[in-house]
Amino acid sequence: MDHFSPVWSVVAFLFIVLVAQSVIASRRPQNFPPGPPVLAVVGNLHQLPRRKTFLKHHEWTKKYGSMIGLKLGPANVVILNSYKHVKELFDKKGSIYSSRPDNYIGGDLICPNDVHILLAQHGPGWRVLRKAVQALLNVSAVDALFPIQNAEATQTLCQLLDDPDGYYDHIRRYSTAVILASVFGQRGAEFDSPKVQALYHAQDRFTAILEPGAAPPVDAFPFLKLIPEFLAPWKKEAREIRQEQRALYFELMRETKERINDQKITGCFMERLLRDQERLGLDDEHMAYLGGILMEAGSDTTASTLLSFILALTKHPEVLEKAQSEVDSICGSDRSPTYADIENLKYLKCCMDETLRWRPVAPGGIPHTLTEDDHYAGYFLPKGTILFANAWAIHNDENEYESPEKFIPERFCDNKFGCRPGKVDTLEDHRRITYGFGAGRRVCPGQRLAENSLMLNMAKLVWLFNILPGSGGGGDLSVETGYTDGFLIAPKKFPVQFIPRSDAHVETIREELQQCQALFSRYEG
Ligand code: HEM
Repeated sequence: MDHFSPVWSVVAFLFIVLVAQSVIASRRPQNFPPGPPVLAVVGNLHQLPRRKTFLKHHEWTKKYGSMIGLKLGPANVVILNSYKHVKELFDKKGSIYSSRPDNYIGGDLICPNDVHILLAQHGPGWRVLRKAVQALLNVSAVDALFPIQNAEATQTLCQLLDDPDGYYDHIRRYSTAVILASVFGQRGAEFDSPKVQALYHAQDRFTAILEPGAAPPVDAFPFLKLIPEFLAPWKKEAREIRQEQRALYFELMRETKERINDQKITGCFMERLLRDQERLGLDDEHMAYLGGILMEAGSDTTASTLLSFILALTKHPEVLEKAQSEVDSICGSDRSPTYADIENLKYLKCCMDETLRWRPVAPGGIPHTLTEDDHYAGYFLPKGTILFANAWAIHNDENEYESPEKFIPERFCDNKFGCRPGKVDTLEDHRRITYGFGAGRRVCPGQRLAENSLMLNMAKLVWLFNILPGSGGGGDLSVETGYTDGFLIAPKKFPVQFIPRSDAHVETIREELQQCQALFSRYEG
């Protein structure tokens, strides 16, 4: 009996309490939306694949319906697989469906004090950041960026002419360069430019550590936070990522300040933020991060969508032909399409909407957290429930879209929302054309900027090139095998040929690049 010292008794008692708590917490709440059966402690964690979870969530729709309730350890999670739920919850009840889940690694270790707008909880801190971002990304501010978008797109075309095999990096450079110039007033002329490389390096590390499975599930099982750093390599990695991000974002902000002092004004977002810093009440850390996060949020997302469009064209020559004849009817070969043409390119707009539907960049959605108990459609959703608007499932809903797995831009010519005949086609339904940008109060504030970039680049690409499959018949369209993993997906590199349509087109674009040099020089040095 003397083996049971008081200390061991307490430890044993605490252990039993912890296990009992975990077992109870992993049970499904009463009246929770249906979902697969749970196991004690882990809930449904063991049923989720490590990769492309959105596909599993979509598959479960057949068995459990369009709203699925899951237990991830103690966490209550709901997957919204129909636009109707997203509209009713995120869009109509935004005041309680707009927070973010606890994120110990991203939110506490790497970006503490709500500096990261994407991860920040719904509250006063997030509101200040959101207001600042919306002011920067309002319609007229965004449309004022057309000249730099046009110039960078022109350079991208010339890079594709000179080095077509490097297309993947040229497209990725484009989106980063536009944001670098618009936010920090700097150029990223090459993919190898130090700032472009530094951004991708920091971002790749950040997204990798946030991927499920990259670190233990600390948010589901908070006691894991107590593991000391020498036993938890992910803690060291998080500390290093924080240092790397801060160093980059602070340096970019310092350089903007220097340029202001040297009277080199570009009109970039950071200049405006610095001017309004006092009124906004933001400290240096929040300012630097705001700029950095705009770059993070706008780079890979835009590039991935453009790459998906190119991938689709390699298999759909009929779409390329139609898009070319539309662009040709406006431009001929004497000039490439520019921002003034965008609103006249109706078919190309259908191509953009279809690309966003067909291959949403954040297919599983970015989680929203419910901040009060709620009842919906006969279900009970407890405060703290984490909800995902599964853009993949929403846009592959066979009841809404005909042959949803196929790339068919024409569906958007026939119906504003790309839906089957007879489906809702009125604005009164408050349906969104795309759920690829999320919904509700957290909806992507960069949508207009992104869509301007997409339209401009798509128009210029089809104007200059015949885009044909490369060796082996082109790329792999399958989202399972042809796309990268992670919460943001992109096509893997695929074989493609960019064949200029005529010498006249080539001559025109090279001349246009010459004319862009004066604009570029404002962002250089
Ligand atoms: C094709 C390009 C893009 C896609 C597909 C995309 C998608 C998304 C999605 C799905 C969200 C989360 C929405 C939600 O929680 O419901 C988001 C948030 C956000 N996006 Fe975008 N985005 C794109 C481009 C951009 C650009 C160009 C910028 C700005 C330069 C930007 C800035 C942001 C910011 C700041 C947030 C966080 C908003 C918040 O949490 O309040 N995005 N985006």
